[in-house]
Amino acid sequence: MSLISRDISQAVSLLQQGELVAIPTETVYGLSANALHAKAVTKIFEAKNRPRFDPLIVHVASINEIEKYASEFSDQAKRLAEKFWPGPLTLLLPKKIIIPDIVTAGLSTVGLRCPDHALTRALLQQLDFPLAAPSANPFGYVSPTTAQHVNNQLGDRIPFILDGGPCRVGLESTIVGFDGGSVIVHRLGGLSIEDVESIVGKVKLNLNSSSNPVAPGQLSSHYAPRKKIIIGNLEALLVEHAGERIGVLSFQKKYFRNHSFVLSPTGSLNEAAQNIFNMLRILDESPVDLILTEFVPDNGLGRAINDRLRRAAE
Ligand code: TXA
Ligand code: MG
Repeated sequence: MSLISRDISQAVSLLQQGELVAIPTETVYGLSANALHAKAVTKIFEAKNRPRFDPLIVHVASINEIEKYASEFSDQAKRLAEKFWPGPLTLLLPKKIIIPDIVTAGLSTVGLRCPDHALTRALLQQLDFPLAAPSANPFGYVSPTTAQHVNNQLGDRIPFILDGGPCRVGLESTIVGFDGGSVIVHRLGGLSIEDVESIVGKVKLNLNSSSNPVAPGQLSSHYAPRKKIIIGNLEALLVEHAGERIGVLSFQKKYFRNHSFVLSPTGSLNEAAQNIFNMLRILDESPVDLILTEFVPDNGLGRAINDRLRRAAE
């Protein structure tokens, strides 16, 4: 079991020694190590069983750090960072040599993000290096949104979990890259496309290039629970699967049976985003054989929620 605590000083000292520490962010919990220390970063891949071709996001204390790690910082990128950092936005920028190749899986870009969580920002401010951190879950599984989620799956592999409470956003960051004058969204996440477009105009989407994924979060089967999941019209699915051991994950309406969860009784997409991974986990651990669910409205954070539902059902 990991030590779970709010004590930053322990996290600082472990990270300085090249150890792993799970950290809270506003999106999901991350599994962090000194991003400038290749050997420490290797431990992340080992603890997660993560393939080495899957690059890591580098977390920084503020926008001022970008120039230390990125060789170019375009005007579009600057405007996005100024507007949305700290926050659920990862920018893919050409990397400087100081970032070890293992962090970026040999790519020429590095994903940079300034997380919006008081404890983790305080931690970053006390360190003289940035933190490489993927989500703190075994590769391919649902991301953790509480310290307990991290402990349940990785507790025997990491010494320390910094407990910052449940994550406020609940979905991973939106990943944005740049190609010539185009702004390209590589992963839908906690910052809506509408918000990104309000600053840089129309973006392109590159969410599913399965032959050569720029971001393995694009792999169609990712973020997946072990149980079979079917998405559709819940009224019809409930009739079709009557008599089976089912769990239900609905958007607004409560279905009167056990193992039934509502993402947001008031129909709030923010609340649905906060709840989705926790509810999928509980259902995955429940005595059901099948999880029935439905899409949420496909705007704002709803697009990222639907993306995660689709990938969970693959
Ligand atoms: O909200 C988040 O982004 C969380 C928290 C902990 O910050 N992190 C997270 O990391 O979701 P991870 O590793 O689970 O997902 C990051 C995604 C991966 O799919 C990875 O392939 C992509 O970001 N990525 C990272 N660096 C990249 C790069 N240079 N080019 C393309 N994709 C990159
Ligand atoms: Mg992940």
